Amino acid sequence: MSALGKLSKLRLIWQQEGPKGAARKVAGELKLRAYHPDRQLVLLRVDLSLPAHRVRPKDADPSFRVLPYGPSELPRLRALLERTEPARLPTLEARLAQGAQGFVAEDAGEAIGYVFFVLGSDDPTEVVHADLHWLPLRPTKGEVYTFDYWLAEAARGRGNLFARSVQQAQHEMGYSASYGYVEATNTSALWLYRTIGWKEVGRVLEHRILGKLSVIDDRVYLVRAFDRLLLGRWPLSVEAGRPSA
Ligand SMILES: CC(C)(COP(=O)(O)OP(=O)(O)OC[C@H]1O[C@@H](n2cnc3c(N)ncnc32)[C@H](O)[C@@H]1OP(=O)(O)O)[C@@H](O)C(=O)NCCC(=O)NCCS
Repeated sequence: MSALGKLSKLRLIWQQEGPKGAARKVAGELKLRAYHPDRQLVLLRVDLSLPAHRVRPKDADPSFRVLPYGPSELPRLRALLERTEPARLPTLEARLAQGAQGFVAEDAGEAIGYVFFVLGSDDPTEVVHADLHWLPLRPTKGEVYTFDYWLAEAARGRGNLFARSVQQAQHEMGYSASYGYVEATNTSALWLYRTIGWKEVGRVLEHRILGKLSVIDDRVYLVRAFDRLLLGRWPLSVEAGRPSA
């Protein structure tokens, strides 16, 4: 959620529950930032071969389309993020540099969002995305790992059509399944994914400390912008900063 979104949510809590309610909310968020003991990540997979998981005749909307993401799409996506969520700007160029493919969502000629994906591999030693160093997901050849779904706040409500259109395009490109993950508290994303065919294939329980350290099972990671650095095994053996990606 953007800073603006958070502020308006806080204002609503202030109006409904008074200053004490708002203070409790802020204190709760700060506490979770310091130590979040049970952040659950839901691992998901969708079968792209099933028509029910793609754009159905009743979903079709001529004002909406998805376009392949590439350097020519950068300027208008950059302009959109500058207006709405500047914190996401570094993602755009990084994903291109990392070789990720993606799609831009366009409504009535305006860019309203984006998503990225990478191709799976049959080589068990090849980790196709930095997330997959710490998530137990292994898309194989002909499958994809999809990540960073984002729609500008003013376009929320278009997520269902956006994701269906992406799944349609990935199917037409010859991919049979897509994997991803979502935080268990991200209700709208979870709801959306479930309505378009994503099935839960596992869960990862993460402990977050000061927003920067992540503990999964016995592994401790430093959380960086686009990957994680494996610091060591909890509680004793430090692995001298062996990178996780
Ligand atoms: C994830 C995202 C792309 C989804 O787009 P969206 O336009 O919000 O999605 P939609 O409104 O089409 O679908 C959300 C669904 O959740 C439902 N929903 C939303 N909040 C809900 C709640 N609290 N309880 C139950 N259902 C809820 C909506 O009714 C809708 O279902 P419907 O299509 O059956 O009506 C968008 O919310 C976004 O960009 N979020 C910020 C970035 C993010 O979290 N990305 C996901 C990373 S995994």
